[in-house]
Amino acid sequence: MYKLLIRPLLFLFPAEKAHKITMATLKALRYIPGARFVVRMCFCRRSKSLETELFGIKFPNPVGIAAGLDKNGEFYNDLANLGFGFIEIGALTPEPQPGNPAPRLFRLPKDQALINRMGINNNGAKAALKQLRSNTPRIIVAANISKNSDTPNDLAYKDYCRSLALLYDFVDFFVLNVSCPNVKNLQQLQGNQMLSQVIESVMEVRRYHETSRPILLKISPDLEQSQLDEIIHLCLINGIDGIVATNTTRSRDNLKSPEKTVAAIGDGGLSGAPLFEKALATVKYVHEKSNGLLPIIASGGIMTPAQASQMLDAGASLVEVYTGFIYNGPAFSKRIIRYLKKKERSKAARQS
Ligand SMILES: Cc1cc2nc3c(=O)[nH]c(=O)nc-3n(C[C@H](O)[C@H](O)[C@H](O)COP(=O)(O)O)c2cc1C
Repeated sequence: MYKLLIRPLLFLFPAEKAHKITMATLKALRYIPGARFVVRMCFCRRSKSLETELFGIKFPNPVGIAAGLDKNGEFYNDLANLGFGFIEIGALTPEPQPGNPAPRLFRLPKDQALINRMGINNNGAKAALKQLRSNTPRIIVAANISKNSDTPNDLAYKDYCRSLALLYDFVDFFVLNVSCPNVKNLQQLQGNQMLSQVIESVMEVRRYHETSRPILLKISPDLEQSQLDEIIHLCLINGIDGIVATNTTRSRDNLKSPEKTVAAIGDGGLSGAPLFEKALATVKYVHEKSNGLLPIIASGGIMTPAQASQMLDAGASLVEVYTGFIYNGPAFSKRIIRYLKKKERSKAARQS
């Protein structure tokens, strides 16, 4: 139904507009008596065997929503009704910012992909805090935090600390986004010196709190191996709780869409199917290099339940989807969960 009817309709609109329509529709269900119950009945699947405990948090299932879909923390409970186990809200910056000029989100249907150069448009961490206070989450929520675009990199650590301190008691864990390709120079924060400064500063903020909220780092799929090695080392020595691998890629390799179409879109991060192999290789590498000591949330090109499973087999503990959700629709998490359960059952049957 989604692929036959709803997606073709939504794809008639420019991508960002379609996103707004979808979110507004989800939100409207709040006001229709019984609608949320029906949605939950259709899409939520409980599974004891897929419950995952990671860095002290019990996830009802390993399938989450990646950052960028609910930028301001307005829809986490609506998305919870679709059966996801957790969600990353944001990216949030200390001050609100408009992001880049539109158009800034594009579809490549032939590639089952998106290109975005949103530029971390968001209403700021304070606005997200207001949402979290007034609408108690019924889902595990991570805050994906970043720096404001006009904050110079040498002061970036202050931005991460501000948002972390503000949201500390209101979310379950944090993701430091140093890998968005759409904010000038942001990816330079993945360099050793600046990354040390950011990580050490947020850890210092955490030390002042009674509870120790997990802090993860989200990395780019475009890193050289030596950079990745340095990052893994830094994370391990500084007590980072895990890695989100990966953000979108700058690469435009192996696309099926006409070169002219891709060139006309211009800069931006590519997500969806063409990203999968790169993200999978990063997950494998981080898992092996850290001897499994860094828990991994896999994100990048998961377009089928089998690909979610491949990420888990490669060493990820949880997976996240964004583009796969846009192309597959609201039943995507249910399909992944069903697939994983079936796989577990047949594994158990083989072992007995
Ligand atoms: C429109 C859009 C906005 C995004 N915004 C963010 C963001 O604010 N912070 C972030 O860390 N990642 C952001 N991402 C990256 C996703 O969280 C995800 O890591 C990436 O899209 C790869 O996963 P996918 O192939 O399942 O989409 C965004 C992606 C898209 C498509």
